[in-house]
Formats: sequence, structure tokens, C-alpha cells
Amino acid sequence: MAKTKTVFACTECGAQEPKWVGRCSSCGSWSTLVEETVGGSGGSSVGSFNPAIGADTPMPMPDIDIDEWVPVPTGFEEIDRVLGGGLVPGSVTLLGGEPGVGKSTLLLQLTAHRCQNGSRSLYVSAEESKQQVRLRAERLGLLQQELWLVSSTSLPEIVHHIDSVKPELVIIDSIQTIFDPELGSAPGSVGQVRHCAHQLVMEAKARGIATVLVGHVTKDGGLAGPRVLEHIVDTVLEFDGDRNLDLRQLRAAKHRFGATNELGLFEMNNLGLQGVSDPSALFLADRAVGSAGSAVVATIDGHRPLLVEVQALADETAHPNPRRSAQGIDSGRLAVVLAVLGKHANQDFSKSDVYSLAVGGAKVIEPGADLGLALALASARMNRVVPDDVVVCGEVGLAGEIRRVAHLDRRLSEAARHGFKRALVPPGALPEPIEGFKVRSVSNLGEAIRLAFSL
Ligand code: TYD
Ligand code: MG
Repeated sequence: MAKTKTVFACTECGAQEPKWVGRCSSCGSWSTLVEETVGGSGGSSVGSFNPAIGADTPMPMPDIDIDEWVPVPTGFEEIDRVLGGGLVPGSVTLLGGEPGVGKSTLLLQLTAHRCQNGSRSLYVSAEESKQQVRLRAERLGLLQQELWLVSSTSLPEIVHHIDSVKPELVIIDSIQTIFDPELGSAPGSVGQVRHCAHQLVMEAKARGIATVLVGHVTKDGGLAGPRVLEHIVDTVLEFDGDRNLDLRQLRAAKHRFGATNELGLFEMNNLGLQGVSDPSALFLADRAVGSAGSAVVATIDGHRPLLVEVQALADETAHPNPRRSAQGIDSGRLAVVLAVLGKHANQDFSKSDVYSLAVGGAKVIEPGADLGLALALASARMNRVVPDDVVVCGEVGLAGEIRRVAHLDRRLSEAARHGFKRALVPPGALPEPIEGFKVRSVSNLGEAIRLAFSL
């Protein structure tokens, strides 16, 4: 075994320092350095070898066989949407999320779906006992003959199990609890997590097994942040949601086999995670009809149109620095919209605390929601109501102009489907007419506000 030495590794980015320092010189995070032993069999050699490539021979591009790189549907529609069709054999996916958000439940459901067509999966539970996982599977009606279960934290053991079970899909729950006894450092340390992930990536590539690694996103308890793994896996999925609400959102932060802008939506109930097939209906369910400070935005998330209610509250304050609060809305966009409202639409919020939110735990991240936010704010300030059959969309420019948004047709047909009758949209190409649905274009914020409250 090679000589070992002690270094300090950052749990956020994996950078190593010879001495302990308060702030990582590589990523700038504070108090993230932990002591580690490196060297031994898994020491520095991993960095020089990219297991995704391995030993290969160059060949002309059209001759490269891509058949084995076609995604295999998991059968769980919301996950397949995010992954652009399914899991690619031989690919490695990291599923990150806070403890308790539902990662184990999601993967149990995913594997059970996959096993329905007779393909074999191995679920390695490194946190819960086999019995616990079986009980949960039984409760959710997910007992499957081809879903193999093992409770283990040791990397060599896991590799042995993969060899003997020969699954098409392997789940490692979680990567932070797996360790290789050959390596000197403690389980959960950056070196262990990175080394074990590397070994599992090599196993996946060599055998063409789709592999999903669970990674807890937390700095507590000395666990290494999964960010150190992001560059060695093919896909990084982020699973989040407010634990007090039932809504969960799945997004790809990185995806080597497709787009990263699709959103998967789930509701957690006593039968596990259920895909949300009509998210607009969910977000509009408890809508505050007839009250000031609310506007419905026809937004788009990935390829999916989504209707979201944006609410705002403006409260006079004597404080020199009024509060600006944005939940589910980008705070930068809120600042821009407030400034433009003040400058170009005679709506002064400089002496008001402003609270804004996207209702129901929705996250509105595209600029097409600006106009809705602006109207909700103006509505709150003037105590005037935007009629409840009106939907809006448009980006607000710094000169107060309303700018075009992509996929106007799809946004408006979603609105019409949910019973809306009128829309305020940016000027320019008008969408295909929809029966019983009136579309008005507005060129600037002042005009939009005048129209919205006199419709
Ligand atoms: P879990 O999948 O264990 O989360 P993670 O692996 O991300 O830590 O899910 C934990 C939470 O999900 C738990 O607090 C209870 C809730 N839950 C349900 O509400 N319904 C269910 O059917 C299941 C299995 C879990
Ligand atoms: Mg878990």
C-alpha cells in the first residue's frame, strides 16, 4: 500500500489544503474543510483516469455504435420526462436532495416500475435495513420478484453483489454511507465518497448498468457534499420541495443525454409519490378569487405550460430600507419590476414593504412572469382587482416595455383549457385565435395596468 498523508479537504468542492483554513481557497465556502487521510490504494491515482472513457480506440464518428446509449423508459412518467425518455444503460445519475424529501421513496417506486417489465434491479440500502425497505415497498404495493434488495455499506461487498445479481439497474442509497475499507479515511469523508463513486462509475460503464447514486445535500454530520461528485456522473438530478407541503419538484442540473430544463412534479401522500398530471389545476386550486394583489400568470417550465397565481402585498413602512420578500419568485426580477413600476408606471413602492410569492410552492423562474408580478403589485398597491378570468404573460423591459415570450400559443391554450376567457400579452405576432378567448396586446406597463383594471 502506498504511503498515506493527512490533508484537509473541502466538503463542498473537494479541493485539498495542506493545513486547516477557515475558508476554502478554491470555492470560497466557510468552515467546510475536514481532516482526511489520503494515499493507500485509492489515493491520488483516481484523478488521472476518466472512467467514462476508459481504454478506447479512435474511430470515424459515423461508425460509432449508439444503440446501447438509448434511454430505457423507467415507466414512471414524471421521471422519464426529466430524463428525456428514461435511464441510459451504463449511465450514472446522482439524485441529490435534503434528508426526508423523499429520495428513497422515489427510487423505490422507480425500480419497482422498471421491474414490471421483467428487468432486474438491485437496490443497495446503506441506511435502512432490508426489512424496513420491504415494509415500505409492501405498504406502497411495490413488491416485485425482480427487485433485489441488499443492505450493505462496504464497496467491495456491493461490487460483489452487482456481479452475482447481474442487474440492469443499481440504486445506491446513499453514496455518503458507502466506504471502502482499503482506504484509510472515515466513511462519509470526501476521499471515500469520491473514491466509491469512481469505482461505481467504472462498474456501471464496464457492465452497461444504469446506476443511481443518492446524495444528501447537507453540511451537517460531517457528510461530504455531493457537489464533489457532479463532474464524474452523467446526470445530476435535484429533488426538492417544502417538507411542510406535499409538492416535490425534480429537475436535472446536468444531463449528458438531453436537455436540463424539464420539470417533474410529484405529490407525496400515503401511497408514496404521485406524478402531478395537471399542475395548473393544482397551483390554482386555492386561488384567492376577487381579491386585490393577485394575478394569474401563463408561464412555461421546460416544455410544459403552467398557470401560476402570483400574489403581492404592499405595506407602508417608515423604515428607510423597506423589506423585499420573494418566495418562488426570483428576487432579482422583483427588484427590476419594482424599479420599472416606480419609474415608468407611476407606482411608487419606495415607502412600502413588499411581499410577493408564487402560490402553492410553485417556482416561477422565467422572465415571462414579470407582467403578472407587476400587475399583482399594482393591484395590491391600488387595491384594485384583476378580473378572475384574465391571464397574463410578458417580460418587463427596463424602459417599461412589454417584451415577447416564447410559446405564446401553448400558454394561452392551457389558460383557455382552465376556463380563462381573456389574456394580456406582449405586442407582436398574435397567437392562433381560440374560440371564446380574447387576447389583448399591451406594449408597456402603464397601458397594461390601465387595461387590467378596466377590462
Ligand atoms: P424518504 O424517501 O425516506 O426520504 P429521503 O430518502 O429523501 O430521506 O421519505 C421520507 C418522508 O416521506 C417521510 O418523512 C415520510 C414521507 N412519506 C410519505 O409521506 N408517504 C409515503 O408513502 C412514504 C414512503 C414516505
Ligand atoms: Mg433515504
